[in-house]
Amino acid sequence: MKLSVFWCSLCIFISGYHVSASQGVTKDHIWEKMQWVRETAIPGVVPVQGGPLNVTLGLGLTTIRDVDIDRGEVEITAMRTVQWRDFSLSWLGKFSENIVSGINMNVNDLWSPDIVAYNAVHAPELLSPPLVHVSPDGSIMYVPHERIRFNCNLVNLETPGGANCTIKYGSWTYNGFLLHLQAANIHGFSLNDYMGDSRFEIMETYVEAETIYYPCCAEPYPDVKFTLNFRKKTSSESWIGWKK
Ligand SMILES: *[C@@H]1O[C@H](CO)[C@@H](O)[C@H](O)[C@H]1NC(C)=O
Ligand SMILES: *[C@@H]1O[C@H](CO)[C@@H](O)[C@H](O)[C@H]1NC(C)=O
Repeated sequence: MKLSVFWCSLCIFISGYHVSASQGVTKDHIWEKMQWVRETAIPGVVPVQGGPLNVTLGLGLTTIRDVDIDRGEVEITAMRTVQWRDFSLSWLGKFSENIVSGINMNVNDLWSPDIVAYNAVHAPELLSPPLVHVSPDGSIMYVPHERIRFNCNLVNLETPGGANCTIKYGSWTYNGFLLHLQAANIHGFSLNDYMGDSRFEIMETYVEAETIYYPCCAEPYPDVKFTLNFRKKTSSESWIGWKK
């Protein structure tokens, strides 16, 4: 019933072939485009065109794996949707037919934004294949499913108002003159793929895009903060949850 980011991205992945297949696409048609993108892409160079590259970031929660109140750490799994456009990779008008509606490539075959969670306590574990989807117009979508552990103040977790846990994402090496980070939606975490958890209640999610200027430097540093407002259910509530 719920059309999620994951399924949506998956159906975009799949429809790339399905739509084309009904129109007589062949392996060669796909291969030509992959070859073309591979030869045109310059993995180390950010595809700016006179202004900052817009990179859109979304986060879809799938599970809350672990909560450590004493250490102030939360571990979740989430699908991070990263979208940008490299006009130089558009193959529109480059071939005699236009029946391939997208190709899937290894993320290392082209440039991708170095977005990291600043308050992560270790490197995220990638749970999905390292593939990006490239559309004919050069739009690129990368949806890594990741396990991530991050710092967050949990002292209010067992209060009715719950705790606010924020993950702050930004580029590791590009400032705002080169990379402009934007939030994919105004609601914060997407919960379409959330598995539910009898231990916790998610009350609200927020997202905030901000730009920080440091005293040293003229450049802006954009980041996007996703906040989960959640609380631990009381033991009687979670018992009911388990029985359901
Ligand atoms: C990037 O996004 C801003 C809006 O936030 C828009 O004004 C600008 O035209 C976009 N740039 C490109 C290259 O699409
Ligand atoms: C959580 O964040 C929201 C929005 O900023 C705020 O209204 C709320 O009071 C915060 N709750 C706690 C427990 O900090």
